[in-house]
Amino acid sequence: MTDTDDQHEQPEHHGHHPHVPHRHHDFDEHESVPVGVPAIALVGLTKSFGDLEVLKGIDLEIEPGEVVCVIGPSGSGKSTLLRCVNRLEEPTAGQVLIEGVDITDPHTDLDAMRTRIGMVFQSFNLFGHLSVRDNLCIAQRKVLKRHKHAAEAKAEEVLARVGLSEKIDEYPARLSGGQQQRVAIARALAMDPDMMLFDEATSALDPELVGEVLAVMRSLAESGMTMMVVTHEMHFARRVADRVVFMDGGFIVEQGPPDAVLGDPQHERTQRFLRQVNER
Ligand SMILES: Nc1ncnc2c1ncn2[C@@H]1O[C@H](COP(=O)(O)OP(=O)(O)OP(=O)(O)O)[C@@H](O)[C@H]1O
Ligand SMILES: [Mg+2]
Repeated sequence: MTDTDDQHEQPEHHGHHPHVPHRHHDFDEHESVPVGVPAIALVGLTKSFGDLEVLKGIDLEIEPGEVVCVIGPSGSGKSTLLRCVNRLEEPTAGQVLIEGVDITDPHTDLDAMRTRIGMVFQSFNLFGHLSVRDNLCIAQRKVLKRHKHAAEAKAEEVLARVGLSEKIDEYPARLSGGQQQRVAIARALAMDPDMMLFDEATSALDPELVGEVLAVMRSLAESGMTMMVVTHEMHFARRVADRVVFMDGGFIVEQGPPDAVLGDPQHERTQRFLRQVNER
C-alpha cells in the first residue's frame, strides 16, 4: 500500500470536517472502516454541465447501515448526485468521501473504490448472450479475480437472496423485467459491496412487477445494507427509509425521518411536490 499522507493536506476549506480522518489509502486492502466514519459523505458537492449548475452545494452524510431515499422533481439532480457518489460523473467542486476516503483525490484507486459500491439503474444491462450464472460471475472473475468455483458459489448465494435460484441457467431474454432487475441486484451483490445505490430501479417495470423488486430492496435494507435510493415509490420510502431527502433545483430542500418529510413537510416546495405525486 502506498502511504502518501504526507504529500496531501486536507483542503483547507474542508479541513474542519469532524468525522473524516486523514486517510489517503487505496481501497485494495478492504480494511475495516474506523467507527464513526460515514459510509458516504458529500461535502459542498457541486456539479455543472457547461453553464447549467445541476448540483449547487450538497452536504450529506450517510451512516453505515442507513437507508436514505432521495426524492424530488424531474431534473432536480437526483441521478447526477448518485452518479457523483461513484464518480460516474466528475464533481465540479466539493468532496465525495467513501468510508472516509476522498474519491475526488486523483490518487484514489477508482476501480477498487467502485467494487465497494453496487449500483442498480433503471435499465438492467444484463449480457443477453450470457446465462444468469455467467452474468453474475463475469465481474467477480475479471475485477475481483475470483476463481471459478468461488465466483459460482457466490452467484448461487446472491441469486438465492433475490429469490431466483431456479433461474441460474436461464438467459435474460427469458426472464420478466422484474426478474431481470433482481438478477441485476444480485450481480451487484456478488461483488460484496459495502453500499448500494439505486436509481429508479423500478421505473421501467410494468406495475405488477414493481413489488417483487421493492421486496428484494426491502430485505436488503433489513439486512443492514447501506443504501441510497432514488425513487418515486413513496410507500417504499415511507416504510423502508431511515431518512428521506427531498431535492429541488440542485439543493437539498428538506430531509428527515420519512414520517416527517412525507407526512408533515415543512417547506412549500416539498408540499407541492408531494401533492403532485399523490395526485398522479
Ligand atoms: N450529461 C449531461 N449533460 C448535460 N446536462 C445534463 C447531463 N446529465 C444531466 N443533465 C441535466 O442535469 C439536470 C439534472 O439531471 P438529473 O438526471 O440529475 O435529474 P433527476 O433528478 O435524476 O431527474 P429525473 O427524475 O427525471 O430522473 C437536468 O437538467 C439534466 O438535463
Ligand atoms: Mg434521474
